[in-house]
Amino acid sequence: MNPVLDVTDVVKEFVGVRALDGVSFTVRPGEVHALVGENGAGKSTLIKVLTGVHRPDSGEVRLRGEVVSFDRPVRAQEAGISTIYQEVNLVPLISVAANVFLGREPRTRFGLVDWARMNRDAKELLSGYGIETDVKRPLGTLSVGAQQMVALVRAVSTDADVVIMDEPTSSLEPREVETLFSVVERLHEKGIAVVYVSHRMDELYRICDQVTVLRDGKMVHTGPLNDLSRIELVAMMLGRSVSDIREHGATAFGEDHNAGKEPLLSAENLSSGVRLNDVSLSIRPGEVVGLAGLLGSGRTETARAIVGALPLDGGTVLVGGKALKAGDVGAAMRAGINMLAEDRKAEGIIPNLSVRENIVLAALPQLSRFGVISREKQDRIVDTFVKRLRIKVSNPDQLVSELSGGNQQKVLLARWLCTKPKVLLLDEPTRGIDVGAKAEVQALIDELAQEGLAVLLISSEMEELLDGADRLVVLKDGAVVGELSGDDLTQDKVLAAIAGEAP
Ligand SMILES: Nc1ncnc2c1ncn2[C@@H]1O[C@H](COP(=O)(O)OP(=O)(O)OP(=O)(O)O)[C@@H](O)[C@H]1O
Ligand SMILES: [Mg+2]
Repeated sequence: MNPVLDVTDVVKEFVGVRALDGVSFTVRPGEVHALVGENGAGKSTLIKVLTGVHRPDSGEVRLRGEVVSFDRPVRAQEAGISTIYQEVNLVPLISVAANVFLGREPRTRFGLVDWARMNRDAKELLSGYGIETDVKRPLGTLSVGAQQMVALVRAVSTDADVVIMDEPTSSLEPREVETLFSVVERLHEKGIAVVYVSHRMDELYRICDQVTVLRDGKMVHTGPLNDLSRIELVAMMLGRSVSDIREHGATAFGEDHNAGKEPLLSAENLSSGVRLNDVSLSIRPGEVVGLAGLLGSGRTETARAIVGALPLDGGTVLVGGKALKAGDVGAAMRAGINMLAEDRKAEGIIPNLSVRENIVLAALPQLSRFGVISREKQDRIVDTFVKRLRIKVSNPDQLVSELSGGNQQKVLLARWLCTKPKVLLLDEPTRGIDVGAKAEVQALIDELAQEGLAVLLISSEMEELLDGADRLVVLKDGAVVGELSGDDLTQDKVLAAIAGEAP
């Protein structure tokens, strides 16, 4: 079959980095093509070249055999390339329906937007994909996952020959992920090609048939996915040998180093409206406690309550036995509690500051003596974390917004780690981080735990919870429904507890 999309020898350079270094990439109708590589390998850049966000410096893009060059994303969409980007980039202030039909609103005879029809059509379209929501609500009032689903429906409802998805599942709940997979299946049956970027191996092997591997802006492999074992694929992404990965790939994690010690953090009877109902948990120094549960079970709210960001109707948070002033984020931080938030765009990264500034931001008060901030000290810290987390930057003074998505996440993690907190609350810490760095992040958390850090780990990836946590607290509807440790830390038992069957 002739390729629907054919990229030859594309080069794209930014100041200081060759993001795409002669990449060729071919996609045939109906195939589900995985595009993989480490953080910063060039995946998003390739997609942006395909969709007219960036112009390539050289090379050629053919769509259905014809050379194309789009100057704007809507042109690519009109030509049949539809895209869901890594970060939701719809308009939060306008309604869900208006977002679905943005740029192609149904019109009345008089050329005015036909709101009634638009709302009706949007509702029908969304429920066709199992999404029931008030389409007149501003998009921004939906959860990040729901927004991503709206973006998905928008993308597949246009007449496309190719649908590109850049890490579509990173903010989705398991149920939404299933919906996404059925959408991919439907596209496949209709002969529409899908380009799928993800760091999650399970997903790739479940839905993709072809794979292209990028490394440092170069295409290093393309072919059927099933010809490669997972470990071979990872080795190719990282440019390491299979035996090397077998030896050093997995990180030991999860012994109970501090059994018997007094809790460093205790949350007692936290309640907040309908969201939290009498939640109690404690973490000893050196312990990693995982929070398991479904969307809306109160995981993020529990973390926010601990750090003082969620108003409480009742309950107390104690650090080292001393009660904190309720609802005071500053007090929590001074007591050594830090939180890595889930939504890095809204709550974390400051795009117009450099990588260095973003990293040392939270540690500045500790780094300054008599109001003077030692540049040397800053440099040392920044260097250490850039190396340890393998953050891909051309130099630390580069704007953080120029980093790839996964590398921005690492910068945030570095920010909280370098404040040497006593208690670290991590909400989806490795979301969007590639397999190599994931192991590094987990090893680093483990190391800090051995030095006495208490960690609360929220993750929707079962594997990460089972590998990473010493103990799991299971939440349902804002209440603790179970606690698992030791031999009970198995997937079956955790799933049963999440579903509400008492362990
Ligand atoms: N606008 C930009 N200005 C400068 N450098 C950029 C810009 N966009 C991307 N880069 C650089 O290009 C390289 C490739 O980035 P890209 O976003 O394509 O990575 P990626 O493979 O999508 O990674 P991730 O898995 O983290 O999303 C990185 O080194 C990144 O810092
Ligand atoms: Mg990317």
